[in-house]
Amino acid sequence: MKIITGNPGTGKHTIAKSISKKLDLEMIDINKIAIEQKLVKKNDGVLDVDVNKLKKIIDKEASKNSILVGHLAPYVISAKNVEVAVVLRKSPYRLQSTYKKRKYSSKKSLENLGSEILGITYYDTIREFGQKKTFQIDTSSRTISDTVKKVESIFRKTRTKDDKVDWLQMVLKKGDMQKFFPY
Ligand SMILES: Nc1ncnc2c1ncn2[C@@H]1O[C@H](COP(=O)(O)OP(=O)(O)OP(=O)(O)O)[C@@H](O)[C@H]1O
Ligand SMILES: [Mg+2]
Repeated sequence: MKIITGNPGTGKHTIAKSISKKLDLEMIDINKIAIEQKLVKKNDGVLDVDVNKLKKIIDKEASKNSILVGHLAPYVISAKNVEVAVVLRKSPYRLQSTYKKRKYSSKKSLENLGSEILGITYYDTIREFGQKKTFQIDTSSRTISDTVKKVESIFRKTRTKDDKVDWLQMVLKKGDMQKFFPY
């Protein structure tokens, strides 16, 4: 199975929809399965997902002709079922305006921005699936169609180089650490 992951708001569904049409692949939405299978619980206002149960279900559904989409991807499928994983990245400054438009609370926004700055999803994807299968794309200054093309060439194995992403360095240089990590 091919994977598209990344923090909330990085563009996973926008990209996955387009590429699944183009390559005639089935799109499997992690959040949708979690809800359908009743594996989502509200815990102090945030949604908790039973990732162990979810992993069993998704491993069963894994197939060569599908794309698994969601920020939980590194935790809900076994490495043996993963062909290639693309992590979408987005500059925290751009991501912040995406979250403003979505009216995220400041707690939710800061949590997700912090995760993007530290590269937690990318790090976890490499840890779970391995460096060789993992690619990241910086969508910050790319159009949607260009991002789709990049993902497509990674899936077709014609693109082998990885984007360089270092948000932490960027935030430090701009003197914005306090803004993103206020506590
Ligand atoms: N180059 C790009 N690639 C992908 N998305 C982009 C790009 N540029 C801008 N966007 C925009 O980013 C926004 C977030 O996209 P989308 O809703 O697909 O994210 P998501 O990762 O699926 O979020 P969530 O995890 O919350 O479901 C959209 O408004 C999309 O149009
Ligand atoms: Mg989405």
